[in-house]
Amino acid sequence: MPDDAIQVDAIQKLYGTMKAVDDVSFSVAPGEFVSLLGPSGCGKTTSLRMIAGFIEPSGGSIRVHGRDVTHLPPEKRDVGFVFQNYALWPHMTVAENVAFGLKLRRKSRREIAAKIEESLSVTGLSGYEDRLPKQLSGGQQQRVALARALALEPELLLMDEPLSNLDRALRVTMRRELKELQARMKMTTLYVTHDQEEALSMSNRVVIMNGGRVEQIARPYELYETPASSFVADFVGITNFFEGTLMRCAEDWDEVRLASGQVLHARAGAGQGGQPGDAVRALIRPERVTLLSGPEEGANILRGQVMLAEYFGAVLRYSVRLDSGETLRLEVHNFDAILENGTPVHVRVPPEHLRVLPLDGRA
Ligand SMILES: Nc1ncnc2c1ncn2[C@@H]1O[C@H](COP(=O)(O)OP(=O)(O)O)[C@@H](O)[C@H]1O
Ligand SMILES: [Mg+2]
Repeated sequence: MPDDAIQVDAIQKLYGTMKAVDDVSFSVAPGEFVSLLGPSGCGKTTSLRMIAGFIEPSGGSIRVHGRDVTHLPPEKRDVGFVFQNYALWPHMTVAENVAFGLKLRRKSRREIAAKIEESLSVTGLSGYEDRLPKQLSGGQQQRVALARALALEPELLLMDEPLSNLDRALRVTMRRELKELQARMKMTTLYVTHDQEEALSMSNRVVIMNGGRVEQIARPYELYETPASSFVADFVGITNFFEGTLMRCAEDWDEVRLASGQVLHARAGAGQGGQPGDAVRALIRPERVTLLSGPEEGANILRGQVMLAEYFGAVLRYSVRLDSGETLRLEVHNFDAILENGTPVHVRVPPEHLRVLPLDGRA
């Protein structure tokens, strides 16, 4: 779209014959928070650094607010960058670190002082002007890195795993602060992470990458509820996978026969244009499976026994060995007791929550 803040079109990066990034396209709208999410080595950092101008693409184009920046150096792109390792100058104070880029841009003393004050204030660092980085906690150092990027008022903010060096409690707090700040300033942000919780909770949209390619681009809810591939279903959240064969596609319901012979109903259209006889995977999220209080007859009711109960306080996760041989994981949120291993159980897989995906080669 012509109004996009970032438009990435079929970018590629080859290292020898290795395609680190292979035909990646996506866009970011003004004010939007988009994450690149994927396992280590899938090409997130390389993509982000091509957009920042630190790495020359082997192919494709990058536009920032409609302007082709593909071959411009980083300083001509008006892009702020926050790295995983903060990259602060150790011998400079907080204020000097923030002022550094402003001085390079030959801003006046007054302007620099005002920018330091403003960017330290929005990042909650007022009063820390004269500290050295080593006198700050990890979270504070990362906020200095953020303040330094914000002080330049970039059109775009690019962040590469900015929270992954922090301990968990701080990461969760910083995640909220960062998102709140980004939304308040309506800062167009492209954020790289391998942490699905971060991506889901912070982003307007998520680009899921795998092996240098884009698997799916979607809002967090769509990504979780309607993953486009087995890879996405497996990477985002926990999923039960059953291999089987599509047996029936009809107006009332679809049917999948699992390898064990067990037949499951799925809502009509779940087979997504597949043909009876196609090899498929049936997918169900653990929280969609119902633990029944006693034996029941009917479609999609399965018998088994508890193999493992994992108690997490608010959530109880069971692994159930089905009579048909498969293992099914399910999650219970309101419970009064924890079932012992070996307890026989009946569970129901609601047809409306069973997804059916073709057995694609990439999963
Ligand atoms: N300078 C380089 N030379 C050769 N291979 C590289 C270079 N940089 C990255 N790679 C490879 O490219 C792939 C993508 O790397 P990267 O973008 O850093 O992944 P991510 O950030 O998703 O973990 C990896 O297989 C990595 O080993
Ligand atoms: Mg990386």
